[in-house]
This record gives sequence, structure tokens and C-alpha cells, in this order.
Amino acid sequence: MTLAQARLLKFLALSLLVPTLAGAAEPPANLVTNPGFESGAAPWVARGPATLLVNTQAQTGAGAAWITNRSATWQGVAQSLLGKMRPGGSYFCAAWARAESATNQSLTLSFEQRDGAGTRFFNVASATVTNNAWTFLSGIFSLNVTGALSDIIVYVEGPAAGVELRVDNVAVVPLAGYRRAAAGRNVLLGGVSGSQVNSDVPFGRVVGTDFHIAGTENALKFSSLHPSSNTYSFGGADAILDHATAHGQLARGHTLLWHGSVPSWVSSNAWTTSQLQTIAFDHIDTVVNRYRDRVFCWDVVNEAFNDNGTMRSTVWYDAPGIGYAGQGTKYIEEAFKRARAADPDCELFYNDYSAETDNAKSDAIYAMAQDFKARGVPIDGIGFQFHISSTPSLSSMRANFQRFNDLGLNIHITELDVSVAVDSNGVATASALAGQGDTYFNVIGTALAFPRTRVLQTWGFSDRYSWIPGFSPGRGAALTLDEDFNRKPAWWGVRDALANQAETLAVQAMSSGDANTLVSSTSFSAGAARQFQANAVNDFITLGADVLYTGEYNVRVGVRKNTASGQFQLAITRGPGGAFVNLGAVQDTYAAATSYNELNLGNFTFTGAGTNSFRFTVTGKNASSTDYDLAIDYLRLIPTGADGNQPPSLTPLANQAVNEGQSVGPLNFAVSDRETVESAVAITLASSNPSLLPTNNITITGGGTERWLIATPAANKSGVAVVTVIATDAAGAAASNSFVIGVAPQTTSLVATGAVWKFNDSGVNLGTAWRSNSFNDAAWSSGPSMLGFGDANGLLPSTVIASNRQITTYFRTAFTAPPGLNATNLSLRVLRDDAAVVYLDGAEIWRDTNITSGVVAYNTLAPVGLSGTAESTWLATNLPPALLPAGLHLLAAEVHQNSATSSDLAFNLQLTAQHTAPSPVLSPAMVAGNQFTLAWPGWAAGNALQFATNLAPPVLWLALTNAPVFTNDEWRVTLPAMTNGQRFFRLQDL
Ligand code: XIL
Repeated sequence: MTLAQARLLKFLALSLLVPTLAGAAEPPANLVTNPGFESGAAPWVARGPATLLVNTQAQTGAGAAWITNRSATWQGVAQSLLGKMRPGGSYFCAAWARAESATNQSLTLSFEQRDGAGTRFFNVASATVTNNAWTFLSGIFSLNVTGALSDIIVYVEGPAAGVELRVDNVAVVPLAGYRRAAAGRNVLLGGVSGSQVNSDVPFGRVVGTDFHIAGTENALKFSSLHPSSNTYSFGGADAILDHATAHGQLARGHTLLWHGSVPSWVSSNAWTTSQLQTIAFDHIDTVVNRYRDRVFCWDVVNEAFNDNGTMRSTVWYDAPGIGYAGQGTKYIEEAFKRARAADPDCELFYNDYSAETDNAKSDAIYAMAQDFKARGVPIDGIGFQFHISSTPSLSSMRANFQRFNDLGLNIHITELDVSVAVDSNGVATASALAGQGDTYFNVIGTALAFPRTRVLQTWGFSDRYSWIPGFSPGRGAALTLDEDFNRKPAWWGVRDALANQAETLAVQAMSSGDANTLVSSTSFSAGAARQFQANAVNDFITLGADVLYTGEYNVRVGVRKNTASGQFQLAITRGPGGAFVNLGAVQDTYAAATSYNELNLGNFTFTGAGTNSFRFTVTGKNASSTDYDLAIDYLRLIPTGADGNQPPSLTPLANQAVNEGQSVGPLNFAVSDRETVESAVAITLASSNPSLLPTNNITITGGGTERWLIATPAANKSGVAVVTVIATDAAGAAASNSFVIGVAPQTTSLVATGAVWKFNDSGVNLGTAWRSNSFNDAAWSSGPSMLGFGDANGLLPSTVIASNRQITTYFRTAFTAPPGLNATNLSLRVLRDDAAVVYLDGAEIWRDTNITSGVVAYNTLAPVGLSGTAESTWLATNLPPALLPAGLHLLAAEVHQNSATSSDLAFNLQLTAQHTAPSPVLSPAMVAGNQFTLAWPGWAAGNALQFATNLAPPVLWLALTNAPVFTNDEWRVTLPAMTNGQRFFRLQDL
């Protein structure tokens, strides 16, 4: 942008700042365009010479990529996400792939990154696949950039040359919420939902961005899927699972055989046991097979035991049962075998409630699991529901989880919710919610101690939708987000359990001569702690922990009496790299009594978000202790709320200049909010110029903390719009940022209004005399200071032209053709009034307004006639663009009226030009060291040089190292010395 344009933008921005508010729909958070190949191949491309087709052999929906003619393993399918992925950002990535008719093939989800460090390839997830099976690939990718990023491409590659590859449902979703907190841990966070996932936009976006897995609460239950005999109804479950697939998520299958959700056609008919077995097995076969890809595990049997460990009497067991009444767990065994046959890859679970701790029910489950394992009955894990209302005995939970873990079974927490007493409005007390936070922290922290704990799923995730108030009147508020998606202490409890365990925090500094080790014991939260072995008083260890938001937090530390114990003082930085501030008094870990030794150190205000430092300094030792050691288990940081609801914050967006016909973006901006999870922070938009840029033409994508804006100005319009992006949290606190989008016109009107005309109405045809250098300018009459003249109807100043008159008129006011104008469709228009027949006989353009000496171009037009009754019709005729070199001009035209009767004639001459930005393409013949000069409109600035090695598709353009970024209207460029491969150059919009 030139300075003048910048000033104009600024002026217009200030004068036009009258926002109109409108909401903008926010689509799914997936950054991939056409992720499921439902709209053909574009913008996907084949890598290398392979062939990319789309056909109906899809994992879901009607399309999937089909890559044939592969001559190398790397030839797959790719899409550039340049401009969508933010340098420094982290992303959850997933894809479905399959290798055609070949076994033991390795498939990989990868990124190709081009930046100052060259071209690099990062494998995010790999799997070895079996013949024709759709396989899910998922992993986390962080975009760490060196220098300028010139491309970032997601792709799937893999099977051996010659093997056809199919790819579907690729997701790249900003890492947010629990997905972010759990990065680096081998555990999947889940939140189940119902149809609201598609009808409630923030609800759907939160589950899509913040969780790894997103299953169904009720939609996969028997009565939902199988409402009448021989009739299956998959629509409800499919809609929820489609939402999950669009966000790179799998789901747990819940549940096949359960005494609940049994439809009456099953329970109230007098089926024989063999008929019922057929019904049950048909159900298992059909449902497991149908969801074999997206449901990675099934609760094959749910709640089959009574609390005392005896078999529950159910329609499947003994009332009348499927043929194994009185045989204990035999019916469960048969159901597991049936499910395994229906999908050999699916993990099979037994799921129950009140089995969290070591008790009669969990003993019965354990005995069954032990028996199944011993006899090779296919069982992969146990689901512990965790519908709880207080912290279970953690030592008992540990003992229980330990035995299942040791049996080689995976452990899933499947339905965690912690109900609390609520008033008639559903509101819980602050202390109840604080206690609930402790319960979530302790349960999750304890579960994480076991390597086989793979899933931590809550039953819902927001108090907006929860079964508790209906099922347990007087109780509620059981989940980690409140009804408005504000983080409750429970959310922080889960977050701390995942992200603030001392053994996962970086050691930033330590006093010299000292050591730290990881000590493992399931009596630690999350199973391990960092033991600091100090030699003396004043020795210290500093841990770095990510403080997500500024503000006041209650800081607690888990420290534990270990073989030796010391006294310590905690000091914290208020912002990354800041000075240390002591928090709380000196603590004595030896004296503390509880096994976890959670110490509440008081409240601390962080003024800078990011990695803050937590320094533990040994200040002494207890008399009974032999050493100065500290076993640091965890940190907890819980907002106190004393500083009130904090408004969201929003990163600024830079002003943008585009040409008519171009869209703006995607532009990345970050949203953060301490209280409301970011995916539920509402983004609304205002535009100061709705006719140029209606808010409906602005879309926001992304989720979590990362959003992208794409603005498409209205067609055929230019000007300036101030766009205001408004982020509003659940409490109504808002933050906004404005930036300017300037749209340079493509159509330039070269003739101003208010011009002074001169005319000669001599009544005779002047021929070309009026063009001669000797014509008598002074003899001509002045017209009204309006465009055109003569209209008896009063619309224009009334100068009635007599019949049979020939008039010549010229336009006195100069106009300027801008430099670099690429004028096409240059046209001269006449507005005719009344019924006279009019001819536009000629037009002339003089340079420098000097009509007597400055003729530079002349064009005799083919006469174009205006006749008939159509009034006020513009008649356009084309002029050669060569008439308009840059500079001042004067326009004249001869207009001939041929009317038998006196009539009025209005004419209005206007030159319009299609003003398109030139696209300089550098000559391939250009050699290193050559210099060339380019003219370029200022508003098209912001380009840089790229090179390519070949021009055969796919052309890979790479940024030149140290390429100049063009900011002025005219540049002199020296091409760098070319290496072997650099043959072609072009300018590329940045
Ligand atoms: C509950 C759902 O949450 C309710 O919406 C439904 O009305 C009844 O079922 N154990 C389970 C779950 O295994 O399936 C139950 O879900 C809660 C208890």
C-alpha cells in the first residue's frame, strides 16, 4: 500500500466506522477443505505422477480419494494448508486410509513443510494395515517454523509402489482443551453427546476441538438402533459419529447387551431363549459390523452384576435369557465371542458402575475377567463408569485398577460425572464445586498412574445437557463445564491432572551439585513424582509450567513425605522470565500428615501467560529427617474468581488491501478466555460498509484458541470496509479488534461529474473541422456544468436541441489515467433522451488538456445509432486502450442528432476502464544477475519472488532465500545466482 492509500484507508476507516452487527455462522473447526472428498478432488492434488481420482468406495459419505498409478511409496494425496496453520500452533491431525488388495502395508499421515530450513517432512501417524481395511491415523503436529513459511502441506502416503491407496476424512484441528492438556500422554479424553452436537453450534464445536474421542450417550443403545424387530435405525448415531469423524475423532461403542434401553418388542414378547439368542446375536453382528471403523471399542455387556457380585437378572441372562440362564458369566462370554467374530479389530469391554474401588462387584468382574483371560475368551478391557458424588477411596481405587492393569486389560473411565447438591435452579454452592474439582483431579490423577488407562470419558461434558438432574432430582452440575461452557474447578482439576504433574514439567534450573530423579509409585498422583535431592539449605529446583491465562489463582502443590523430607519455600514468576515472588510460608513436608500432602499455598496473581517458573528452595529439614529431599508430585492452579470474569482477548488483525474480485484471508487470529472455553467464545462481526462487505460474506473457521477469517467483498464493488471482530464470552464480556479491508477498483471511472462541457450547435455537420488545430475554441458555447445537456423533462438543465442539428461537444475537465493502468473494455457511453435518433460519430482524447496542440490519439467510431423509444439508455462503444497513456487527458466526442422534429437530447460521456492488476511473469530466459524494473500498482504490494524447477504440473513454487518483498510502486530486482534447479521465477502474493 502506498502512503497515500494508507492515508485514504485511515481517513475512510475513521469516517465510516458505523458498525452493523450481525452474527456469523461458525462451521466445524477442521482446517482441511473438502476433508471427506464429498465435493470431488479439489483442492487435493496427487503427489508426484500418481493419479488422483475420487470414487464412492468411501469410509463415510459418498466420496473418497483413490490414488492409482503410484510408482513410489510417497505418492499419495496432498493439500496445502498454507495460511491456515499458524506458525507456532499445534494441531490434532487424523485421516482414514486403506491399501487396496495388499497386506502388511505401512500408511502414514505426514506434513511437508517448506521454510527457511528447506523442505522437511514430518510423519504424524503411521499404521500397518491389512488388506482393504480402513485404518485410522491420528497424531499431533506442531508447526515450528524457521524463517518464512512458504508452504505447509498435509498428505497421506505409504503403501508400496503399485498399490492403490484410498484416503478419506482428513482432519487438522487446532489443539484445544483436554486435547491440548493431554498432549504427550497416552490417553484419550472423551465426552459423549446426543443430537445436540449438530444442533447446538458451540456445544458441537467444544466437543469437536477439546476431546480426542466423542461418542454417543444413548444413540448406540439397543432401543435407539433397533426400535422394532428386523428394523434398524442408524440415523441418530450416524449424525453424531459424522460430527466426530469431521473432527478426527473415534468413539466408544455403548452398548450391545444391557438390561436398560431394551425395546418393548424384545422385552414384552414371549420369545424362546433360542429366539432371543438369534435376536441378540443378529444385533451384535449388524451393529458391530456397521460401526467397525469409527467405533474402536464396544461395551459388549453393560451392568451385568448386582452390587453384591451376583448375576443381575436380565432379559439377556435369565428372563428368559439367550440360553445360558444359571450359567453365570456364560452369556457374557458368548456375547464377547460374537462381537469378536463381527469385528476382529474392535476392543471388547465389560462396563459397569460402582466397580471403581475394590468391592464385591469389582471382585466379581475381576473373577470373570481372570477366567476369560485364562480361557482365551476375547476381552480387552474394563469400563469403569464413575457416576460418583464424592471422591472414592483412592487407595481402594488404586488397588482395583492395579489388578485389572496387571491382568493385561485396558482400563477406561467411561461415564465420569460427579454430581453435587443443587438448588431448585440447578445451582451448586461454590464449595461444592471446589470439592467436585478435587474429586475430578484425584480420580483422573489416580487413573493416570496406570499404563493401561487409555480412556478418560465424561458422561456429557457440559452441565447444559446431563442426565443427572433428571435421574437424581436435587443433584446436578456434574460435569466440568457449566451450562454456558465456563470452566468449573472440575475443569481445572482435570487439566492439572493431565498437564501439571511434576514428572511431566520441564526442569528449568537446579542448584549445582544436586540431582533430580523420577520416582514411581502408584501412591503418587499420576504414578510418579520428581524427587529433588538437595545437598544443603538454599538449594533449589525450578519447574516450568504453562499458565494459560493471567489472573489470580489458588496455588497448591502436591509434595510427599518420601524417604527423606525437607522444608521448602515456593517462589513463582508472575510472567515468563520474570522475577521470583515467594508464595506462602515455608512448608514442612515431613510434618504434613496426608498421603498426598497437598498444600494450599495461597493465591497468586499471574500477569503474564505462558511458561512460568515455579522454584522450590530447600529451607531446612525437619529434625527427624536425614536429608533435604523433596518429592514433588504436582501443581494445581485454580482461578479464585476474586478478580471477576475476565473478558476474552483477541489478537489484532492487520489491515488488508486486495483487488476487486479477490477475497481476503484466511487470516489467523487467536482468542483466549480464562472462564469460557474458547470454542464457546462467540465470534461476531461488524462491517462499516455492508454493501461492500456484508457480514454474511465473512466466515470464521477454526475453533479453540485458533480462528480464521475469510472475507469475500461483494462483486463489482470497491472501497473500504472496517471489519470489527468481536469475541464475547459466556458472561457477556467482549473484546473487539478492527481492521481495514481496502478493495481497489477494477473498474475505474475516468470522468468526473460536474464537468464543464462546451458545444458547438451550428446546425451543420462540422465534419472533422472541429478536430483541427485551427478550430475556434472560443466560438463554442459553454454547456451547463452538468454532464450532458438538454432535457425538456426537467431532469437535466434544459437546452433543447433543435431538429436536424449536428452538435459536437467536448469535455473540458481533465482526467488522469493512473500509471500502470491496464485499460481494457474502455468505453464511451451516450445517454439519449426522448425519441431522437442519435449517432455517436467520433471521440477524441487529447493529451494534457491542450486541444489545439495536444492531440495524441484520435478514433473515428463506427456510428452507433440510438433510436426507438427507449429513453435514458446508455449506449457504449469501445475505444482502444492505447488511447490512454498515463497522464492528463481531455475527451471530446461528436454526437449527431438526426431528428425530423425538434427534440431534446441528453448525452453523458463517461469513460470506464477495466483496471486490472498486471501479473508480471518473469521471463524464463532471465539469467542470474539480470536486473529488471517492474511497475506495479501500490495496492498490489506485498509480493515476493519464487522459483520453480519445472513448469509441468504439479508446479512447486518455492520462496527464494532473501527474496525482496515488494512494497513500492516500482522495483528494481536483481535475480540471485541460480542454482541448478532454479529456472523459472514469478511474483507471488504473500
Ligand atoms: C443414561 C443416559 O445418560 C440417559 O440419558 C438415559 O435416559 C439412560 O441412560 N449407566 C450407563 C449409561 O451405562 O448408559 C446410562 O446412561 C447411565 C448409567
